[in-house]
Amino acid sequence: MTLKNDRFLRALRREPVDRTPVWLMRQAGRYLPEYRATRQRAGSFLAMAQNPEIACEITLQPLARFDLDAAILFSDILTVPDAMGLGLYFVEGEGPKFRSPVRDAAAISRLAVPDMETELRYVMDAVRLIRRELDGRVPLIGFSGSPWTLACYMVEGGGSENFATIKALALNDPAALHALLSVNTDAVIAYLSAQRAAGAQALQVFDTWGGALSPAMYREFSLPYLTRIARELERGIEPPRQGGEDAEHTPLIVFGKGNAPYLEELAASGAEALGVDWLVELSEAARRTQGKVALQGNLDPTMLYGSPDAIRTQVRNALDSYAAGNGGSRDGHVFNLGHGMSPDMNPEHVAVLVEEVHAHSAR
Ligand code: CP3
Repeated sequence: MTLKNDRFLRALRREPVDRTPVWLMRQAGRYLPEYRATRQRAGSFLAMAQNPEIACEITLQPLARFDLDAAILFSDILTVPDAMGLGLYFVEGEGPKFRSPVRDAAAISRLAVPDMETELRYVMDAVRLIRRELDGRVPLIGFSGSPWTLACYMVEGGGSENFATIKALALNDPAALHALLSVNTDAVIAYLSAQRAAGAQALQVFDTWGGALSPAMYREFSLPYLTRIARELERGIEPPRQGGEDAEHTPLIVFGKGNAPYLEELAASGAEALGVDWLVELSEAARRTQGKVALQGNLDPTMLYGSPDAIRTQVRNALDSYAAGNGGSRDGHVFNLGHGMSPDMNPEHVAVLVEEVHAHSAR
């Protein structure tokens, strides 16, 4: 399959591109009126995510509006614990919840890696359908939560402010938490492999809550499992340095909120790219990772509340910051936000952002 636009995959391989590629975390979501209309028709977020035709429709919505360089599967990280039997549901205005959280060694010992082509078939069917409908326009990103971030929701039973329950488990029964992280890691590897087999052309792990850990705890409970994923996830043959369009290798992006203290360690994990938030300058991130990985990020999403002129300035600053830390070259950068978009953001401001990324980074 020849891609019509392979900027994103080339940037992940740190190859030269004509413009810096851009996509946005949560680019398909409630800020789009067409998303809200589809959600109304489908009934709920879960009904949309579990229906491959609707998941495909939603995935393509932002691409119809904006000149984005990648599509991301419309789904959620919590599909995996749901398939492990925890019972995912959403309460309006409160976010995700689990009917059966796992809080002790006994409950954790009963968890098993779900079967990807039965229990998570709807996700794989969505990937296959999206690939067909994209017809090579842009690459499709598959994704998963990180073992630690999934564990946060599985132990807390939903979102949390201070992660009191899982941190108490870390202190009082670290062996049980390691058992949970270990089964999650096996599940993440199987889940990403299945998405790759179904057609995902790049894979992203979201370690959204890694930054909630102290350095010692991050290095015990998150980093080793991210590294195991990067080492063990089979993603095909490394393409030649100036790889052809049909390169079989599927790059892995490890995104982490608050991962700035660990960039050197993450760059050595085996991942092809790191996603970073706005608490670190891209120039610094590029210097510290020394071309070992591509970098993705990192505009503060709230910059989208600024005026179009202010957004353009912020976009240029982020692009130039990356180049300043990368020996003057824009290669190896994928433009993104440092975290997901919010429902009250203005789609016209997104158009401004995407346009400015391409205009300012044209080689
Ligand atoms: O980026 C994309 O456009 C792809 C789709 C995507 C969703 N969730 C859709 C979604 C992705 C990649 C995710 C990942 C995800 N889900 C993460 C990691 C990334 C991050 O944002 O930190 C996490 C922690 C979750 C868990 C989750 N799912 C939460 C906290 C929520 C509630 C959000 C809210 O504001 O109510 C969800 C639901 C969810 N996942 C929505 C979307 C578009 C909102 C659903 C709706 O009400 O329509």
